[in-house]
Amino acid sequence: MESVSHLLAILCCFLGVWGLHFIYERLSSPLARLPGPAISNWTDLVYIRYWLAGRVPYYVHDLHEKYGPIVRTGPNRVDICDVDAVKEIHKTNSRFLKSPWYRTLLPNGMENVFSTTDPHFHSNRRRLLASPISDTSLHQHEDLITGRVKMTISRMAEEIQDRGATDVFKWWLFMATDIIGELSFGESFRMLEAGKVINKQERLQNLSNTTPQKSQYTLDLERIASLQPIRTTFPKLVYFGKYLPLPVFKRTVETGKRMASYTSQSIDRYNKMITENPSNPKKTLFTKLFDTEKGGLTPEEIKNEAQGYIVAGSDTTAVTLTYLTYAVCGNKQIRDKLVAEVAALSEPIHDNDLRSLPYLNMVISETLRLHTAVPFGLPRAVPSGGASFKGYFLPSGATVSTQSYSLHRDPTVFPDPDTFKPERWENPTKEMKDISIPFGGGSRICIGVHLARMELRLGSALFFRKFPNAQRSNKEDMTEKDMEMQSFLLMAPKGHRCLIEAN
Ligand code: HEM
Repeated sequence: MESVSHLLAILCCFLGVWGLHFIYERLSSPLARLPGPAISNWTDLVYIRYWLAGRVPYYVHDLHEKYGPIVRTGPNRVDICDVDAVKEIHKTNSRFLKSPWYRTLLPNGMENVFSTTDPHFHSNRRRLLASPISDTSLHQHEDLITGRVKMTISRMAEEIQDRGATDVFKWWLFMATDIIGELSFGESFRMLEAGKVINKQERLQNLSNTTPQKSQYTLDLERIASLQPIRTTFPKLVYFGKYLPLPVFKRTVETGKRMASYTSQSIDRYNKMITENPSNPKKTLFTKLFDTEKGGLTPEEIKNEAQGYIVAGSDTTAVTLTYLTYAVCGNKQIRDKLVAEVAALSEPIHDNDLRSLPYLNMVISETLRLHTAVPFGLPRAVPSGGASFKGYFLPSGATVSTQSYSLHRDPTVFPDPDTFKPERWENPTKEMKDISIPFGGGSRICIGVHLARMELRLGSALFFRKFPNAQRSNKEDMTEKDMEMQSFLLMAPKGHRCLIEAN
């Protein structure tokens, strides 16, 4: 009995010392002096709750409105809404490296150009990957991309005939996924042909069959984005997911595995194809990199990169096109102005013709401002020696983020920030350009930016040429609520649909 009370006394002492140390650490941390809710100095729980609900950008935005341009969002985490901070943090060769959080996006041991936090790995990998996806090289894929866009618009027209409305979110997602699939693997996923939400098994068959099957692969893709909060919040639990009785962890592990296995099979098939027919391979974004003797990558490394391209390059483009369509269809004046501009083009339409269309490009800029597909804060680690912003010192190792959701709504830079107003881009100020980061910035700027912009130009121009009277639909109980932005890693409309009518 006596030894038990001794043990309890020791335990209490230990907890007391640990508690005092914890309190001292929290109160003496430089971040304790930052504006922000008191609870954020003690725990990440509130932030995590919003992260799991897909509402972090809204939460952080509310904090900025209450506390100002710099806010503490957790004991070791800060968000800044300030143009000078953006320029400093997201410049080329910035000392603010991606935070360790990015490593949790991929299963253990995997690394690619998106997830790496190592600047040497990143610059080597980026050097290899950048050229095939540059603005100049992409021209050789323009016919393929235009063909997919045209097929998308035909499928939308068929759906309008059958259903009275088309779900543009579904079709833009199929289009963006088919394009990045074909550019990465040399073969399309044929989601546009199948025209249905399809599963991975059937999708694999699609690649080897001439007649596409129904499949559910989109579910995996959608799931991968919405399961990212689980992976990043509980990386260890996900690692042991297969042994845990909780379905959400099992699902996270299984979805990750299916994506990896799918990519693996596709890359192996392409590898076989170019080994058997080395003289005339169908060109992909990775063709040159299969030659390891000329400094290329191993098939395993290519798989990791291709998987990253599929996830980063499909939802982002699809969501942007969806909100563009929805915003334009919601305002007759904007729609008619855009329709008049694209209707004046003569066939065949080339991407080069679209680059110089003033209104189309203003509409795209405004969509990327108000409905950026990556609205959360691109977290970076404060470098050794710390850093100061807005008069506050941030210690080395703290995480600093700059969320585009708030930056793009700064009323001093974008008056009337919540209104979709393409005209504001007619003569953009330097500040508007500096504070806009829909594709990130500096050395870590989106590698797919040129591809994405080409898809956005072709998609929106061809859509409004075909459907000059397009308008929002309220069929099947579709409401504005369906379009509420939900943001896990990538943003998506809450209802996962966007119905548009046209006659
Ligand atoms: C409208 C469409 C797109 C948007 C809004 C977008 C947005 C972004 C943003 C904000 C980042 C920076 C992330 C960070 O710093 O944490 C990024 C990086 C990246 N994106 Fe995109 N993206 C789009 C399309 C694409 C496409 C089509 C691809 C296909 C290749 C792609 C591949 C990547 C990759 C690989 C990175 C990592 C680059 C690096 O760290 O060097 N993205 N994207």
